[in-house]
This record gives sequence, C-alpha cells and structure tokens, in this order.
Amino acid sequence: MEATRTAKILTVVGARPNFMKAAPIIAAIRDHNERLGASPHPKGGRNSHILLQNVLIHTGQHYDEAMSDRFFSDLNIPRPDVHLGVGSGSHAAQTAEIMKRFEEVLLRERPDLLVVVGDVNSTLACALVAAKISYDANGTRPLIAHVEAGLRSFDRDMPEEVNRILTDHVADLLFVSEDSGLHNLRMEGISDEKIYFVGNTMIDSLLAFKGKAKSSPILDKLGLRDTDCQNSATNGTARYALLTLHRPSNVDQRATFLNILEGLQELSNSCPVIFPAHPRTQKRIAEFGFERFFSPENGCQGRETSRSARAMGRIHLIDPLGYLDFLCLMEHAAVVVTDSGGIQEETTCLGIPCVTVRENTERPITVKVGTNILAGTSQRGIRQATRQQLESRVACAVPEAWDGRSAERILDTICQEIEKQQLLKNSSGWAESDPRTRI
Ligand code: UD1
Repeated sequence: MEATRTAKILTVVGARPNFMKAAPIIAAIRDHNERLGASPHPKGGRNSHILLQNVLIHTGQHYDEAMSDRFFSDLNIPRPDVHLGVGSGSHAAQTAEIMKRFEEVLLRERPDLLVVVGDVNSTLACALVAAKISYDANGTRPLIAHVEAGLRSFDRDMPEEVNRILTDHVADLLFVSEDSGLHNLRMEGISDEKIYFVGNTMIDSLLAFKGKAKSSPILDKLGLRDTDCQNSATNGTARYALLTLHRPSNVDQRATFLNILEGLQELSNSCPVIFPAHPRTQKRIAEFGFERFFSPENGCQGRETSRSARAMGRIHLIDPLGYLDFLCLMEHAAVVVTDSGGIQEETTCLGIPCVTVRENTERPITVKVGTNILAGTSQRGIRQATRQQLESRVACAVPEAWDGRSAERILDTICQEIEKQQLLKNSSGWAESDPRTRI
C-alpha cells in the first residue's frame, strides 16, 4: 500500500487585500488534509495522498487591528505561524526589510511551494527571495505560485503594477482570475504551461461569508436600517453610497484629493455617503485640512453617529471596517465609489453599481461584463458617473469561474505539481531535470 507523502506549503499574507484572497486557499488545504485523514488511501482522487503542511507567514505590512487582526477573525484564518513584524516604511525600506526577514524563514522552513497573492509589496518581496534562494548545492528552491496573476493597469506609476509584473515573471505557477490576465501573460512571453485560469479567490471568500455578513450590526450602528428616513429604499435600508479612497495617486496630493472631494459633493447632497477611511487617507485629511467635507463625528459608535450618518451634504467618515461589516455595507449600498481593485470585483459579483475613481483598471472584466464604470479623477467625470450609476440599474453578469471554487482548482494544480516534483526528486535525474534547479 502506498505510504502517505507530505509536502510543505508556505503561504504569505501582509496587507489587508491579501487576507480575503489567501483565506480560501488556507481553508482548501485544511479540507484536503481532513479528507485525507478520513480516508488516507483513497482509490480515486489524483492528488489526495499528499498530506499538506501549511505554514502561514504574516509580514506585518499592515499591523493595525482594523487593517489586519480583525480580518483573521472575520475570515476564520488561523493565527500566523510566523509574524515578521515589518510595519511601514518607504517602498524600498519595506520591501528590503520583508526580504531580509523572509529569507531566514524560507531557509529554516524549506517549503516545497510558496503561495503569494495579489500585488502588494509583501507579494513581490517574498516571491523575489524564493526565486533566488538555494536550499542546497543543487540550487533547489521552492516552486512559486502567484494567485491573481496577469492583471495589468498598464500604468507603471502604480507601485502595484510593478509588483504584479515582477512577481509574474519569477513565478512558476500563475493562477489567473479573468481572461485579460491570460492575454497579458501571453503577450509578455510567459509560457502557457505555467498559466492556469482558475477564477477569483476573493470571490470564494465573498460567497463563503455573504450569509454571515447579513447578521453584521453595521447598518443599525450607522442608523441605516430603518425605513423612516427620507431616502429609504424598498428593502428597509436607507439609500446610501459607500466610499473608499486610499491610492497614493488620489489622496497623497492635495489638489487631486480636493478635486475628488469636490466631485463627490453632488452625491453627498443626494444621499448619505459612508466613508470607512484607510489610515493613509485619514492622515491626509488632517494634514490638508479637509475636515470641512466630513461630518464632525468620527468612529461608528452610538446614536450621535447614527444621526450624522443619515445627514447629507457631508461625507460620513468612519474608521476602517472589518470584512463582514464592509461586505454588509457593500451589499446594501445604492452605489459604491472606490479606487480599490478588489472592490471593483466584489461589487460586480454582488450586482451593485460601482464607480471607480481612476483613469484605468487592471480588472477590465468588471467594466466589460460587470457593474463597474471608470470615472477618472475629474470633478465632471465623478459627477457624471455617480449620477449615471444611481439612476440606472446596470445589466451585469458574473465573470467566468467566479463561482466560489477557485481555491479548490488552485489546490488541485498545486498537488499535481508537487507530485511531479516529488517524483522527479525520487528519480535519479533530479538535479538535471528539476526546473527548480538552476544551471
Ligand atoms: C497597501 C498596498 C495596496 C493596497 C493597500 C490596501 C502596496 C504597495 N500597497 O497600500 O496595494 O491596496 O495596502 O490597504 O503594497 N498604515 C497604518 N496602519 C496599517 C497599515 C498602514 O497606519 O496597519 C499607514 C502607515 O502610515 C503607512 C501607510 O498607511 O505608511 C501606507 O501603508 P502601506 O502598507 O505602505 O501601503 P498602503 O497604502 O496601505
């Protein structure tokens, strides 16, 4: 009888948008091992005899309770096995610090495969370390899997675009979420053998937690639940807009940020606008003296806030929310205005109109078949787009393979690839034929 084989996977998370992308993969590994425990020597099932050990690394790029810990509990992610505690810094300092600390972990853990997700500095830093590491004299290194590969905004001024391109070019397995990703990778000369169209793990999380998000108390906390306010929608929830802004290109320059806030005034005169603001954005609001655009109460506790959340004319600024509260607010919003990448995808899946305050998107499927429109950053563009999205219900479809099973597909491929590597390792031709061995 064949003995159960083991393999070690190292999964990296670092910043807020990583958590919902990695959570389904961590859950899929757990489910795989549980199935294996129940039936260690199954007759069918291609890969089911490999026991997977997952080591979870948190780089600490995001460290506030509201930007990190809350997501672990909301998404049922286990405590990280290793926390690198890197924190904030310039791009160079942050990336370098992650690389230094991660190299030690990689040499100690020696995983068979590394999973990185998304496009943040932690993604690139860890992929780059793994691409150059040597476990032994043969130059053995882990396979590198990039989840959310191939997305391109074609704007190299975005730090995320640089992170995406470089990560894709050092990865061995590229897991793609939409068809533009396939096209982009092929155009960049990446071999088809490395590319897998699997769908979107962020949507796996959304579908898994949508039910739980319904019991979030956030609508009541913000006074948006009852029907007696003048903008009441038919479903017992007030008609409101949800806003997020955090891109350095939108909030770090006074004139641009001011322009966006002025462009949003028409919207805030027509319905309450709820704005859970990223720490970067909150700092800029104080620094630029933009308090006049916002309702005076901060935070989201108590009746005072409930009253002000319904008030119009000013944007209602609150602290960043956890995953479930934000999902609940998104699902009931009349329109979502954002510069985030992931929110464009989540609103498309939920069928909620979305206005993206950017000149471009690396997620064109959300415009092509989804609910998203690109407003740009001009006042006119923002006004027109919000008006259009509030007035008309957009016809939309859910993109292909955004079905809640992407992590399963990823794990299937990972198991197959690990199995191939283990077979090679056991054969005499290991050093010559292992793609991980540098010549
Ligand atoms: C990062 C990602 C971005 C992602 C965003 C989601 C990169 C290049 N950018 O941007 O793609 O959309 O996360 O939030 O990786 N800060 C805190 N507490 C925290 C984290 C950050 O106060 O927990 C403040 C610090 O002042 C820090 C600033 O926010 O300097 C920026 O944080 P950083 O991780 O450098 O980039 P983000 O803007 O969050």
